[in-house]
Amino acid sequence: MQVNIHPYRIGTYFYFFLLIFIKLFHPEPLNKKRMSAFKRHLVTSALPYANGPIHIGHLAGVYIPSDIYTRYLRLKGEDVLSICGSDEHGVPITLKARQEGITPQDVVDKFHNLNKISFEKLGIAFDIYARTTSPVHHEMASEFFKTLYDKGDFIEKTSDQYYDEEAKQFLADRYITGTCPHCGNDQAYGDQCENCGTSLSPNELIKPKSTISGSKPVLKQTRHWYLPLDRYEPFLKKWILEEHKDWKTNVYGQCKSWLDTGLQPRAVSRDLNWGVPVPVEGAEGKVLYVWFDAPIGYISATKELTRDWEKYWKSQDTKMVHFIGKDNIVFHCIIFPSMLKAEGSYILPENVPANEFLNLEGDKISTSRNWAVWLHEYLEDFEGKEDVLRYVLCANAPETKDNDFTWKDFQNRNNNELVAILGNFVNRAVVLTNKFFNGIVPASKILNDYDRETLKEIPVIKSRVEQSIERFRFREALKEAMNLARLGNKYLADTEPWNHNKNNEERVKTILNISLQISANLSVLLKPFLPFSAKKLSGFLNFESSDWKNIGSDKLLIPGHRINKASHLFQKIDDKLIEKQVQKLIDTRQTLTDKIVAPAKDVINFEDFSQLDIRTGTILEAEKIPKTKKLIKLLIDTGIDQRTVVSGIAEYYKAEEIIGKQVSILVNLAPRKLKGIESQGMILMAEDTEGKLVFVSPEENIQNGSEIK
Ligand code: MF3
Ligand code: ZN
Repeated sequence: MQVNIHPYRIGTYFYFFLLIFIKLFHPEPLNKKRMSAFKRHLVTSALPYANGPIHIGHLAGVYIPSDIYTRYLRLKGEDVLSICGSDEHGVPITLKARQEGITPQDVVDKFHNLNKISFEKLGIAFDIYARTTSPVHHEMASEFFKTLYDKGDFIEKTSDQYYDEEAKQFLADRYITGTCPHCGNDQAYGDQCENCGTSLSPNELIKPKSTISGSKPVLKQTRHWYLPLDRYEPFLKKWILEEHKDWKTNVYGQCKSWLDTGLQPRAVSRDLNWGVPVPVEGAEGKVLYVWFDAPIGYISATKELTRDWEKYWKSQDTKMVHFIGKDNIVFHCIIFPSMLKAEGSYILPENVPANEFLNLEGDKISTSRNWAVWLHEYLEDFEGKEDVLRYVLCANAPETKDNDFTWKDFQNRNNNELVAILGNFVNRAVVLTNKFFNGIVPASKILNDYDRETLKEIPVIKSRVEQSIERFRFREALKEAMNLARLGNKYLADTEPWNHNKNNEERVKTILNISLQISANLSVLLKPFLPFSAKKLSGFLNFESSDWKNIGSDKLLIPGHRINKASHLFQKIDDKLIEKQVQKLIDTRQTLTDKIVAPAKDVINFEDFSQLDIRTGTILEAEKIPKTKKLIKLLIDTGIDQRTVVSGIAEYYKAEEIIGKQVSILVNLAPRKLKGIESQGMILMAEDTEGKLVFVSPEENIQNGSEIK
C-alpha cells in the first residue's frame, strides 16, 4: 500500500515531531527552573539524634530557618510538606543506654517525646515528626538497601576489626583508646590522636583498650558492604559543581573540596545490634550504618504522613530543600544524593542551605559538656516568650559564619527591638484608636505626600522579605520585616496624632487609619517569623488573614470595623531574669573546671625536680608541618644552642604569629622523631578548659638560656 504525503506536509510533520522530541528529551536543566516551575515543595529538617535534648544551636542552625521557610510557602498557598523526626539509631545511643543502665529504646523514647513536644511549643510546625525506629522506616530503609544490593551497587569487603569479647561487640573507632605510635600519648582514639593530630586507624594503636569494658580487644574478621562513592564522582561533579553554583558558598566550598580530594568507598553497614538489620542472608548481627538509614527517614516519614508520598518524592516538579547544620553537608550533598541516584526513582534536593554553628557566650555548644541553652528549659523559664527566642535566634543566625549567643544580646534585642519598636508601634496604634474613636477604624479621606510615601513602602518591604526568604537569607528577611514596624513607629512619631486638637479630627483619622493598615500588614508579614505574636496582633485588630497576597494593601481594615483592646505584645526582660540564666552558665562552667583540674600527683623530692633542665628560649622560626593538623616545627634559641622542636600547637597558633615569642623549654628530654623530624626538647604549655594550649612564658623578656627553677 502506498500513502501519499504532500511534500509540504512532510515538513509540517517533521517540525511537529522535532518539537515533541525537544520537549521530551531536553527538559530545562533543574537548576534553571524558576520558583513557578515547581508544583510542590518538600522541606526537610535534619533529624536530630534522640540521645539528648534540643538546644539553641540546633534551632538557629536548622529548625528556625526551615520553619520560617515552610510557613512562608504555606502563606503563599504553595503545596508544601515539612518533614522531620528523630534519628534513633547509631552507636552513641547504645552507649548512652549502657551508661545509664537502660535500653536504647528507653533512651530514644525519652528524647523523642521531649523533643517532639518542645518543637511544638516553640511553634515549629512540622507536618510530621516521625522516628527511625518505626516499622514503616525499617521496612523502607531495608527495601532501599535491598534494591541497591540486588543491582550490584555495593562492594563487599572483609577486614579485621577490633572486637570486645566481654561486651560481645565490635568496636567503633571512637570506642577504642590506646597509645599513639607517633607521640606516645596514651589516650589516643581509634581514629585520631588528639595530642599530635595524626589520623589513625585502630590497628595502629599500641596497647588498645575498649572504652566499653576496659578489656583488651581482639582482631576479628568481619564482612561489610561499601557504597563506592568514587563511581558517583562524575555525576556529583556535574550536578553540584556545574549545575549548583547557586548553593551557599560554605556548602559549595565543602562539596568542592570533597570532590577535589576524591571520594572513597564508604561502609554502609556496622556490627551492632541496634539499627535496621542488613537484609541479606548471613548478615546476622549487622545493621545499616546510621547515616545510611537516617536520610531515608525523610522518605519514610513522608510515607507515614500521606498516601501521596510518591507524588512528592518522585516528580521532577517537586522542589526539595534540606535544612541542616554544616557538620551534615557531606551526608546531604554527597552521600545521600549518591544513594538516591543509585536507587534511581527519587528526586534530588534543589538546595541545601546549611548553616554554620552558633556558640554560647564565646564557647562551643556541647551536649556532653552541658554547655547549652536547652529548649525544654527555656520553654519553662520563659513561658509565653517563645517568639523572643525565635526572634533572637533568627536575627543572630550563623548563616555565613559561626555566631555567638549571649544572654545580654538576647535581653537587648527583646527590649530595644521587640518591645521598643514593634510592640510600641502596635500598642500606640491600637490604644489611640480605642481612645479617640472607641475602637472603630476611622476613614482616611485626604492623604498628604508623606502618607502616600509611607503606604508605598509596604509592598516594597514585602518584596524584599520575599526575595530574602527565597534566597535563604532569613536574618535579612527578618530585618526587612521589622522595617515595616520601624516605618510605622517613625510615621507615628513624625505625625504625632496625640498632639492634634479637636478641629483637626480628619487628620487624626487619617493617621490612625494608616497606622492600623500597617499593623494589619504586620500581622501577616510577621507570621513566618513570630507566629504567636502575629496571632496576638490579629486578636488586637480583630482581623485575621493567612494570605500572603494581602500584604501590601492599604485597605485591610475597612472603616467602621471594630478592633479590640490591646495588651502588651512583648514585655521588657529585666536584669534579674538574665542574671539567673548567666548564673546557670557560670555554675556549669565551674562544674566543668572541677572536672578538668587533674588531681595532684605523688610527691617528689628536690633531686628529682632538679633533673629537669628547663630554660627560657626564643622561637626563631616556625613552620606548619604539611599533612598534619596540629604540628608546627620550631627553631628555638635556647641560649645553649639553636635546636629543632616539634610542637602540637598548630590548632591554636599560626606559625607566623609566634616567631619572636619567648617560651619555656625542657632541653634535656631525650630526642624523639615526629613525622620524620627529630624533636630536641619540649615547649611547656598549659591547657585551658576548652583544651586550648597556651605558652608558659616568662613575664618579661629575659636572656635566653636562663634556668627555670
Ligand atoms: N542526626 C543527625 C545529626 O544530628 C542528622 C541526621 S539528618 C538525616 O547530626 F538526614 F540523616 F536524617
Ligand atoms: Zn599522637
